[in-house]
Amino acid sequence: MTYVPAENRYQSMTYRRCGRSGLKLPAVSLGLWHNFGDITPYGVQQSLLRTAFDHGITHFDLANNYGPPYGEAERNFGRHMLQDWKPHRDELVISTKAGYDMWDGPYGNFGSRKYLISSLDQSLKRMNLDYVDIFYHHRPDPGTPIEETMGALDYIVRSGKALYVGISNYNPEQAAAAIRTLRELGTPCLIHQPSYSMFNRWIENGLTDLLKKEGVGCICFAPLSNGLLTSRYLNGIPADSRAAHDPRYLKASSITEEKLTKIRALNDMALSRGQALSQMALQWVLRDDAVTSALIGASRPEQIIENVRALDAAPFTGEELAAIDRILAG
Ligand SMILES: NC(=O)c1ccc[n+]([C@@H]2O[C@H](COP(=O)([O-])OP(=O)(O)OC[C@H]3O[C@@H](n4cnc5c(N)ncnc54)[C@H](OP(=O)(O)O)[C@@H]3O)[C@@H](O)[C@H]2O)c1
Repeated sequence: MTYVPAENRYQSMTYRRCGRSGLKLPAVSLGLWHNFGDITPYGVQQSLLRTAFDHGITHFDLANNYGPPYGEAERNFGRHMLQDWKPHRDELVISTKAGYDMWDGPYGNFGSRKYLISSLDQSLKRMNLDYVDIFYHHRPDPGTPIEETMGALDYIVRSGKALYVGISNYNPEQAAAAIRTLRELGTPCLIHQPSYSMFNRWIENGLTDLLKKEGVGCICFAPLSNGLLTSRYLNGIPADSRAAHDPRYLKASSITEEKLTKIRALNDMALSRGQALSQMALQWVLRDDAVTSALIGASRPEQIIENVRALDAAPFTGEELAAIDRILAG
């Protein structure tokens, strides 16, 4: 059936400017790291993408090695692109990345010009796209000169394969060098993609200050800590949860009693604010306007519908933020 997007899709989402660029991103974006490989039925993937767009999520984030197996999320997205998204291409911001291991041998990993340009060419073919909106270097590569890696990103923009470029998982010093090098080349760094959640606050130690100063946007990945900062694990580990059925990154053993005590206290606080814990966790990462977008994953459409309403509740008071800090400190 031909997909007809919801007419009111732009009415409830907030769009935030990405640094000092002309591009706005939805406050909540959807990542395809999990649930778009060969272990997820095509129809489930389709309903996740359609639900997201119907609720104003205009940004889909991928990487060359999302799957399983590597490349499969892009390949599946390419099928969705042909079936649903071609007519809406200009309403979408689609990103991909290279930087982690992708293919065998010395040219399928890290940050060489050789790897980044050939990987993006492969990604575009898999996704049935002429260009991506954002291409990222996925992680810093201490073995390759920053001039070479950023030179490859600059070339990628000039060749029309990407409209913008970004970096991911760079610490403040590495990010400063990348931003400076890109600026010297004449291609601004649009965005940084770091991890950030209530359980993982490393970006508060210098990175957000740098990004604000440089006018670079920030999209935080895993803002729900892979599902921990939701109601998912309040009463054990459900069989259909990530920790149970796809424990590549979130292991049942990491859901400790100490974590659960904090999750329960945060959940109580969210309920007292009239929102779900997932919504409070997303609103929390978005409380600083240095953060452009919260990059979520989802295994079912209802999760997306809950998450896009993250900004409906009242802003946090100073006392509430202090109470969250106390809960997190244990
Ligand atoms: N740049 C990088 O190095 C990097 C690394 C990792 C991720 N990322 C990006 O970030 C994206 C998000 O990562 P993530 O999937 O780990 O993010 P996340 O949003 O922290 O976790 C997503 C998981 O949380 C659960 N969930 C989401 N909403 C929920 C709700 N309302 N109620 C209950 N459970 C809910 C679901 O788990 P269940 O599956 O159990 O339902 C879902 O799969 C990725 O897709 C990728 O695009 C980037």
